[in-house]
Amino acid sequence: METTAGPEQALTEKVLKAYSNIENPRLKFIVSVLIKHLHACVKEMQVTDDEWEFAWDFMERMAAMTGPERNEFLLFADVIGVSQLIETLNHEKPGQPVGFALVGPFLRANDPFRERGASIASDDTTGTRVRISGRVFDFETNTPIEGAILDTWQAATNGFYENQDPNQPDYNLRGRFRTDENGNFEIVALKPTAYPVPTDGPVGELLRAARRPPDRPAHIHFIVSAPGYETLVTQIFVNGDPIIEDDAVFTASRNMVGDFEKEGDHFRLTYDFPLKRGVSIMPKAPIAA
Ligand code: DHB
Ligand code: FE
Repeated sequence: METTAGPEQALTEKVLKAYSNIENPRLKFIVSVLIKHLHACVKEMQVTDDEWEFAWDFMERMAAMTGPERNEFLLFADVIGVSQLIETLNHEKPGQPVGFALVGPFLRANDPFRERGASIASDDTTGTRVRISGRVFDFETNTPIEGAILDTWQAATNGFYENQDPNQPDYNLRGRFRTDENGNFEIVALKPTAYPVPTDGPVGELLRAARRPPDRPAHIHFIVSAPGYETLVTQIFVNGDPIIEDDAVFTASRNMVGDFEKEGDHFRLTYDFPLKRGVSIMPKAPIAA
């Protein structure tokens, strides 16, 4: 501790002490680290009264844009890289064959199960189709995993997920698929298109102030799970998309790109998902069923 501890330091110590009786050791640790760093932040920034008013008003405006359809707080965490940091911290190991991506705000609970080879796009959904096939297998033993579940979702060509767009049928461009006895799956989807994250809220203000483009590279989401294996939360990007290097939410990476090959009026993509042994947990869906 500094020898010239002033009144601010004494206050921080007093607050830390006031929260030192939390019973749950993990919660106690989290609260103390939070106090220490938030106090340090305020001191380093020399936050003025006006700035503090701006800050809580900003949070109030984020809350006003948050509900069952949308979470501005999650979006904020995404655009400042915190969500991807948490993914990296928990899941990225050296030699990771397929990268972990953030879940993002658009996973919806209870995506419908669909038959092998079925399309997640309704017939009247515009856009070029891609037939995606591949294999889910044990990363260490290379044995196929039968009955693995692939939960997939993507935006339409207008940039909207089904829940944001009254013109799309319920659960359009969403679905769950099961692997067969050889660990194989086949899905028809749209060739993904690039689009921006929502910028009509406080997060948009931040992006404009930073002169950061709000664009996410074209992608399709996958959560691949099976009992006894660590759940793989990932996205597939289109090889050659320049936005991959400048993803608004810092998740796109080289270990998540697929080669989309033109085949007549559609595309084909072969993509395998190796799973590591571990605990099978499903992330919470930000959008309710
Ligand atoms: C975010 C993630 C997405 O997958 C998406 O399509 C839009 C936004 C996000 O992390 O905020
Ligand atoms: Fe997305």
